Amino acid sequence: METTIRKVDKQQVWELRHQVMWSDKPFDYIKLEDDDLGFHFGLIRENKLISVVSLFINNEEAQFRKFATLQQEQGKGYGSALLDFVLKEAKIRGVKRIWCNARINKVDFYRKFGLQESKSNFIKDGKSYVIMERYL
Ligand SMILES: CC(C)(COP(=O)(O)OP(=O)(O)OC[C@H]1O[C@@H](n2cnc3c(N)ncnc32)[C@H](O)[C@@H]1OP(=O)(O)O)[C@@H](O)C(=O)NCCC(=O)NCCS
Repeated sequence: METTIRKVDKQQVWELRHQVMWSDKPFDYIKLEDDDLGFHFGLIRENKLISVVSLFINNEEAQFRKFATLQQEQGKGYGSALLDFVLKEAKIRGVKRIWCNARINKVDFYRKFGLQESKSNFIKDGKSYVIMERYL
């Protein structure tokens, strides 16, 4: 089935973020103060938003945040396609180092994209995270 990846509005990513990542929290919980400063990317299949991620560039460094694929569409390669796209997009925009706060259960997934675990880790809202990074 045909898919496209393109920039989407923050309102569109909010819905998916909430549904996939924090459906037990109020809707506003998933909004970020920096959302107006970020690039929001979505993978779309037949007009339906399937997977989203947001990229925040700060000079030569960038963080990607709030990566989420609809539950029923996970494990089909959509997230990988979107992450590949975002890594390329960051490089095109002059980013030298890209990083994310990875949920511990996603470390192996991000390793496949060349991201490596740093020494920083933390717990937030009962979930464990490690900072993972890659030089582009
Ligand atoms: C992380 C997340 C965005 C990945 O999106 P996704 O669309 O499921 O990603 P993919 O389908 O490309 O990859 C998921 C897994 O399926 C595998 N996969 C990809 N295509 C596949 C295919 N065609 N057939 C079988 N398996 C496949 C991948 O290798 C990957 O395996 P792994 O998790 O063991 O490394 C998604 O799991 C999600 O939304 N999780 C909840 C929110 C979350 O945890 N976000 C990240 C916070 S750090």
